[in-house]
Amino acid sequence: MPINIRRATIDDIICMQNANLHNLPENYMMKYYLYHILSWPEASFVATTTSNVFDEEDLKDEEGEQQQEEDDHLVINDPITGREIKLDPTYVNPGEKLVGYVLVKMNDDPEQQDQPPNGHITSLSVMRTYRRMGIAENLMRQALFALRELHDAEYVSLHVRQSNRAALHLYRDTLEFEVLRIEKGYYQDGEDAYAMKKVLDLKELAIANFVHRKKANDIGEKPEDDLKSDLLEELIQGGLDDVVV
Ligand code: ACO
Repeated sequence: MPINIRRATIDDIICMQNANLHNLPENYMMKYYLYHILSWPEASFVATTTSNVFDEEDLKDEEGEQQQEEDDHLVINDPITGREIKLDPTYVNPGEKLVGYVLVKMNDDPEQQDQPPNGHITSLSVMRTYRRMGIAENLMRQALFALRELHDAEYVSLHVRQSNRAALHLYRDTLEFEVLRIEKGYYQDGEDAYAMKKVLDLKELAIANFVHRKKANDIGEKPEDDLKSDLLEELIQGGLDDVVV
């Protein structure tokens, strides 16, 4: 199934918000998406597909509970192919469905103006049916490259829930972010966040230099998370004393 990764535009923001509402408890008003796209139009990316897969998995919420299917979508027939097209917030264009996004900004905190230019990953998510295909990794690599090349960002930061093992694997193992500190009670429900950072090196990030680890190492099976071990235990024991409460 072909997946297209391209820059996010204003036309995508309804679908980005829809994906965010499906995939994450941290949600934003439409004007916050607009602010990102208008201020840093080169930094955010979306993944879309034109293949017509029924995404049963995407009707489940993050706990795997089936959500009510909304039957009130308007369905039209594509005048050229005759294919049925659902007009719903999953579709950025007739027949083009958004399956993932990364929403990115430069750090514009007035209190941190003494810092070198740096970027921030506000939100990343991929629809359930399309996970473990490398979409998040590719969205992130495009965004990191754009931050470095177009905005001279020296590093990028993000927050991730302590319980979010998939995202922690992605950031720590695949993209080689480092954990800076634990921010106690960062999220509205009281969960702690890992504050993470990656120094951006243009040569390393150049798309031409990107070789997928799995292909490079010729490993067949994707490693599964055992869901038991403490992912960052070693690191914390090694002295993560910079804990922000
Ligand atoms: N278990 C273990 N490792 C995982 C998993 C998983 N379920 N999913 C991804 N990874 C890690 C692996 O290291 C993987 O590399 P590999 O497949 O070569 O082993 C690597 O991430 C890249 O995986 P992708 O296929 O690119 O990731 P995917 O497209 O599935 O998206 C994401 C990962 C974004 C975390 C997805 O699971 C998701 O949307 N989750 C819900 C929303 C979310 O948690 N977003 C991140 C919040 S933090 C923030 O927004 C700043």
